[in-house]
Amino acid sequence: TDLAHIRNFSIVAHIDHGKSTLADRLIQSTNTVAERDMKEQLLDSMDIERERGITIKANTVRIDYLAQDGETYVLNLIDTPGHVDFAYEVSRSMRAVEGSLLVVDSTQGVEAQTLANVYQAIDADHEIVPVLNKIDLPASDCDRVAEQIEDVIGIDASDAIRVSAKSGIGIEDTLEAIVKRLPAPKGDRDAPLKAMLVDSWYDAYLGVVVLVRIMDGVLKKGQRIKMMQTNAVYPVDRVGVFRPAMTAIDELGPGEIGFITASIKQVRDTKVGDTITTDKKGVETPLPGFKPSQPVVFCGLFPVDSAEFEDLRDAIEKLALNDASFSYEMETSAALGFGFRCGFLGLLHLEVIRDRIEREYDIDLITTAPSVIYHIFMRDGEKIDLHNPADMPDPSTVDHIEEPRIKATIMVPDEYLGDVLKLCQDRRGIQEDLTYAGSRAMVVYDLPLNEVVFDFYDRLKSVTKGYASFDYQMKGYRTDNLVKMQVLVNDEPVDALSTMVHRDRAETRGRAMCEKLKDLIPRHMFKIPIQAAIGGKVIARETLSALRKDVTAKCYGGDATRKKKLLEKQKAGKKKMRQFGKVDIPQEAFISALKMD
Ligand code: GTP
Repeated sequence: TDLAHIRNFSIVAHIDHGKSTLADRLIQSTNTVAERDMKEQLLDSMDIERERGITIKANTVRIDYLAQDGETYVLNLIDTPGHVDFAYEVSRSMRAVEGSLLVVDSTQGVEAQTLANVYQAIDADHEIVPVLNKIDLPASDCDRVAEQIEDVIGIDASDAIRVSAKSGIGIEDTLEAIVKRLPAPKGDRDAPLKAMLVDSWYDAYLGVVVLVRIMDGVLKKGQRIKMMQTNAVYPVDRVGVFRPAMTAIDELGPGEIGFITASIKQVRDTKVGDTITTDKKGVETPLPGFKPSQPVVFCGLFPVDSAEFEDLRDAIEKLALNDASFSYEMETSAALGFGFRCGFLGLLHLEVIRDRIEREYDIDLITTAPSVIYHIFMRDGEKIDLHNPADMPDPSTVDHIEEPRIKATIMVPDEYLGDVLKLCQDRRGIQEDLTYAGSRAMVVYDLPLNEVVFDFYDRLKSVTKGYASFDYQMKGYRTDNLVKMQVLVNDEPVDALSTMVHRDRAETRGRAMCEKLKDLIPRHMFKIPIQAAIGGKVIARETLSALRKDVTAKCYGGDATRKKKLLEKQKAGKKKMRQFGKVDIPQEAFISALKMD
């Protein structure tokens, strides 16, 4: 296809504003798929994604569109992951296209994730076409939302397209706008091959599939290509496009987006953002700005049943083959036995992986407290990256500790603002900005990442009844007064419950944890002290009294159904318990004890 007849774009939207529905409509209305093949939300392929309604892997589709000017255009849509955990993947896919549709729900308005993603689009020099969706709903208020787009984002929204993706209104206008308002790609067919590796994933039939955007030159079957980051050379087996089914074609030219397979063994061998060229007579300089995505949140994953360790290893290895941003290494814990210390791009990434292990591989897991990477500066000048509080060196040898901080953007209706400010303040936040757009407030906070990784998002949702939206970016490291807090159950330290906390918060946090654990740990035949300590110093203590009589008889009264329920609960609970010394601790205690209310 010649460059003038290609348009490459992505869709930027907040979760639930209608990105997938609109994408489906665009595909459907151009007959890219026969109606009967049209599955709900074609672009999201994984089950978990569909359930959670989020898009994880960048997908793409090629649409042929006969425009009103009588010419046929090739429209390539790259679906970008909507969540901040995948910010690097978003920014990569953005650099592979020239324009974006900014989809905003006209009953809701601009949200925090809209902002984060639209700034990435602006960064990538995109032409942006605002689309006001859900105009079929009575609550739709296009004028207000258009004004808000101009106020908050600062782009012209006077010619925003009014759409109902659900009822199919404004779809033709959207397609025309893509052709007329977005620029055609540039590129030189006769130059040496220069292509961007936008994404890669494992396909059961084809092996590793690589999504590429050709900048210059031509990519053909049989060519020997070189990945510039890894210097690995592969012969290309297949070249194709997504219509949206994978369809083989002869070649991909400049401006085009498609896939290749090249007997690459594992997804790990491909680096998102890498430059692909030919083995011989290739380009010398790669595309700018390659940086691998780095895990920022770490936690331990241990099998509840230690006999399942090998199964867990197997599951983790398989998942890692297909997800280059997920890292792991073996870990042994005095309390939990053998497991893995795993690194994730963020909390959502952590949850998705943990769910997949439990669900697809049927392994019950104990997840230890998520931790961020601390920079430990030793007195002797050495610097350590601490991924696991259990590895914290003796405090007397430490000079100072730095922790990562984020810039958090929260959008919330007025009436909840007070609660949001309080929450951020409680989490050691520093307010940077507070502005209003209509009846919504936008607050920007500088927050320690460690205060956010655990339950910040849950808390935010609950104090705002779900009306707040939240997004964050990594900011950098800052020194603070941080200490390792240990928890001792029956005088034995439970390393899986160790956390790094701010010194000023340690007592409160320690007390809260001991109280929680007292409720979470079932009573035993003996008295169990539960303590929080910093170094050798106990800062909080609770005592779980000994159990004297039959649980069902004394503590819970005589109600028969209640008794039965309790026994069942205990039976189910048994499977999920771990022994620590002489004490059984239920699995849920590890997570619940760390939640702060
Ligand atoms: P994520 O995949 O979670 O990022 O969401 P999304 O932005 O892709 O939103 P999706 O297309 O899944 O739509 C979210 C919800 O809004 C779904 O229940 C849709 O049916 C509904 N929806 C989308 N477009 C419209 C519309 O034009 N009108 C109405 N009434 N509902 C719509």
